[in-house]
Amino acid sequence: MITLEEVKSNKTILAFINQSSKALSIYHYTDHGIGHVTLVADRARELAKKVGLSSKNQELSAIAGFCHDMGNFLERKNHEYWGALLFQGVFQDKMPPKDLAVVMQAIANHDDYYAKILNPVAAVLILADKSDVRRSRVIVKDKKIIEQDIHNRVNFAVIDNNFKADPLRKRIILQLKIDTKFVPVMEYFEIFTERMVQCRKAAKFLDYKFTLIINNFKLL
Ligand SMILES: [Fe+2]
Ligand SMILES: [Fe+2]
Repeated sequence: MITLEEVKSNKTILAFINQSSKALSIYHYTDHGIGHVTLVADRARELAKKVGLSSKNQELSAIAGFCHDMGNFLERKNHEYWGALLFQGVFQDKMPPKDLAVVMQAIANHDDYYAKILNPVAAVLILADKSDVRRSRVIVKDKKIIEQDIHNRVNFAVIDNNFKADPLRKRIILQLKIDTKFVPVMEYFEIFTERMVQCRKAAKFLDYKFTLIINNFKLL
């Protein structure tokens, strides 16, 4: 069975991630490079363990987390499908077909809001990815660009991000501290409602409830 450590040292995967990061920086997007995918991989592994997935699925969650955004260098639109196919190209002779299919489904699922969630690894990846909002994800330092772009503005406003699963209460909780000088809580919702709906869907797939807390207000 292939491990995250092996995936992390695969030169093709690293090239795809770095090219994606470069491509998105042209659009002044937030970090989708090594920083983001490493955090998502770690968060996915931890969450998979907490909700009781098998050790194999914990590893597959971490691998899907690390590879989920690498299709962005081809095109932002449909990057989830590009990424799944690129993963197949690199690993089809190195992984059992079923494991390969599970990771491909997870990568394809992570940004298709109309698709049904297809397996628990996909549900874990959605939660790990959509919960990564934080000031350090903002790459551009230009104040004007930050102010103009709602994604940058909203990420910049998040000064603390605490993500955890509580297996006893069957809750997955995202607690954010937002600096309301930069965005009012409502603006956060304008941009994140869709993502939070996805998180709720993913938590439900795992038989959990999703809770979002912003500045001590419980909003979901
Ligand atoms: Fe993505
Ligand atoms: Fe992502």
